[in-house]
Amino acid sequence: MNIGIAKERAAGEQRIALGPESIAKLAKGGASVFVERGAGAAAGFPDAVLEKAGASLETDAASLYAKSAIVLGVQPPTLDEIALLPEGSVLISSMPAATSGDLVKALAARKITAFALEKVPRITRAQSMDMLSSQSTVSGYKAVLIGASALPKFLPSLTTAAGSIPPARVFVLGAGVAGLQAIATARRLGAIVSAFDVRAAAAEQVMSLGATFVASDLVAADAETKGGYARAQGEEERERTLAAIGRHIVDQDLVITTALIPGRAAPVLITKTMVGSMRPGSVIVDLAAEAGGNCELTKPNETIRVGGVTIIGAVNLPATVPFHASQMLSRNVLTLLQHLIKENTLTIDLNDEITKAMVVTHDGVVV
Ligand code: NAI
Repeated sequence: MNIGIAKERAAGEQRIALGPESIAKLAKGGASVFVERGAGAAAGFPDAVLEKAGASLETDAASLYAKSAIVLGVQPPTLDEIALLPEGSVLISSMPAATSGDLVKALAARKITAFALEKVPRITRAQSMDMLSSQSTVSGYKAVLIGASALPKFLPSLTTAAGSIPPARVFVLGAGVAGLQAIATARRLGAIVSAFDVRAAAAEQVMSLGATFVASDLVAADAETKGGYARAQGEEERERTLAAIGRHIVDQDLVITTALIPGRAAPVLITKTMVGSMRPGSVIVDLAAEAGGNCELTKPNETIRVGGVTIIGAVNLPATVPFHASQMLSRNVLTLLQHLIKENTLTIDLNDEITKAMVVTHDGVVV
C-alpha cells in the first residue's frame, strides 16, 4: 500500500498530515510511505527524521502523486494537484468549504475516493480520528496566548513591591472543545474565567474547570442535537442571550468566542453596541471568524481596533502550533488509516458508519 504526503502549499499552513511516529507504525505494518522533500520542515520534522521513521523522500509532488494509492494532506489539494492524482486513488484531507463546488466535482471526475477529515462522526468509536477535536484543542489554547499578548495587562494576580495587581477577567463564549481548552489555559495563566454556552451539558464542564457559568437560566434542555452540536436559537432566545452577554461583557478584559452551528453562519453574540460598552484596552479573539464571526465587527484574518477594543479575527490557529497540531492530527489520520486498511488491503465500505460520514466523492459520484 503506497501512501503519499506532499508539501502543504496553502498560505500559512505549516502542519503535516503524518508525523514520524505514525509513519513508523504504518511502515512497520507493511505500508510504503512517500514524502515530498521539505513537507515536515515547518512543523519541526526535517526530512532526515521522516526518512529515519521509514519514509522514502520524493523530490517533487508529481512523482509522489504518481505512485500513491492514498494521498494525505492537511489542506485539500488545488485543482492542478487533483489533475496529478492517479485515477481511482484515495485522498484524505480537510475539505472546509468543499462540500460542493469545483474541487469536489474535479475529485469525482478523476474517480477519487475523497475523505473529508472534518466529517468524522462525533461517536465514541471515532474519537481518536476526530481532527475537529484535536485541532480545536490547539485553537482554544492559542487563542488565549494571542489574546494575552494583545492585552495591556497581566492575566494573573501579582503581589509585588511595586504594588498589587488584580487578575484579568476572561469570558469564553461557546464551551465546546475549543472553548473548554481556552478556559483551562486562561485559568492556568491565573485569570478569573467565566463562560457561556447554550448546551446544558456545557455548564457542568465549565464549572469543573474552575470557571463560572454565566446566565445558566438561558440554557435549554433541547439546545443540543443528537450529534452533540448546538441548534440555532430562536429569536426570543437569541434576544435574551444577547441581553445577558451585554450585561456581563462590560467588565471583561479578554473575550474568546468559539460558538458555531454546523452548516450555518456563526451566531452573532457580540454586537457593535456591546463592543462600544467594553473598557478601552479589552481584547476579543474571535475563533468563529471564518464562519462569519461571533462578533459583528470581526474581519477574518485581520486585527482591528474599534474605540480602544482590539478585535482579532483568528484564522487557522492550529497551523501556528505546527509541531503538536501535526502530532495530534497525525494520530487522527493514523487511526483512520488503520480502520480502512486491514492486512495491507484498503477497504472502502460505504455502509460503515465512519466511512459513510466522511466520504465526499467515490466512484465518480459526489456522495
Ligand atoms: P462547535 O465547534 O460546533 O461549537 C462550539 C460551541 O459553541 C458548542 O459548545 C456550541 O454548543 C456552542 N454554541 C453554539 N451556539 C451558541 C450560542 N448561540 N451561544 C453560545 N454558545 C453557542 O462544537 P464542538 O466544540 O466541536 O463540539 C460540541 C459538542 O460535540 C461537544 O461538547 C460534544 O457534545 C460533541 N463532541 C463529541 C465528540 C465525540 O463523541 N467523538 C467529540 C467532540 C465533541
